[in-house]
Amino acid sequence: MERAAESNTKQAVEIIRLRVGDIRTSHIGDVSELLRTLGSKHTAITVAELRRSAKANRIYCAVTRQDNSFRIVGMVCLVQMFLPQGLRLWLETMVVHDSFKRRGLGRLLLSRVMKDAELLGAEHVNLTCNPTRAIAHNLYQDSGFSPANTSVLRRATRAKTTSR
Ligand SMILES: CC(C)(COP(=O)(O)OP(=O)(O)OC[C@H]1O[C@@H](n2cnc3c(N)ncnc32)[C@H](O)[C@@H]1OP(=O)(O)O)[C@@H](O)C(=O)NCCC(=O)NCCS
Repeated sequence: MERAAESNTKQAVEIIRLRVGDIRTSHIGDVSELLRTLGSKHTAITVAELRRSAKANRIYCAVTRQDNSFRIVGMVCLVQMFLPQGLRLWLETMVVHDSFKRRGLGRLLLSRVMKDAELLGAEHVNLTCNPTRAIAHNLYQDSGFSPANTSVLRRATRAKTTSR
């Protein structure tokens, strides 16, 4: 388990993989707060949704421990796509709690993802990042990510009605 530099409050932070069986109601507030920091529209996550997500994806969390429980202060999801042409991995939902930023947690989460991606046998890890997220771009560039020669396209599932 990676251990980050101690925080100001001397709380040690560890990087763990969040397993379905570890998820408790107390983690919902932590994750909702991180989703708010990320600017997600969907912040009212339920235990069932978090468990479903942890089952479908690999979720890595930066946690502080107290007694037998832990608080989630950062997270990242690694989405596995088992395609006919092989395994493809996408990194999503990278976020660190405001009080724990700039302590190397983003870098630690990324390094754990890259280690496991290699163990899984993937050639690359892909991600998209809005150009306005300058800090995240710094982190990704510093960690060896570079622009891929491809375009991201998107279409709403329901056509918008146009008023004439
Ligand atoms: C991006 C984010 C995850 C980084 O987390 P973090 O734990 O603070 O990052 P780290 O402490 O590991 O810093 C790693 C690198 O990121 C960059 N970085 C982090 N904070 C920075 C800041 N305030 N200004 C400029 N660069 C910064 C630096 O390159 C830094 O390396 P350095 O410390 O050697 O200079 C965090 O800022 C965050 O949650 N942002 C909001 C959500 C977001 O934008 N997510 C990305 C979605 S694509």
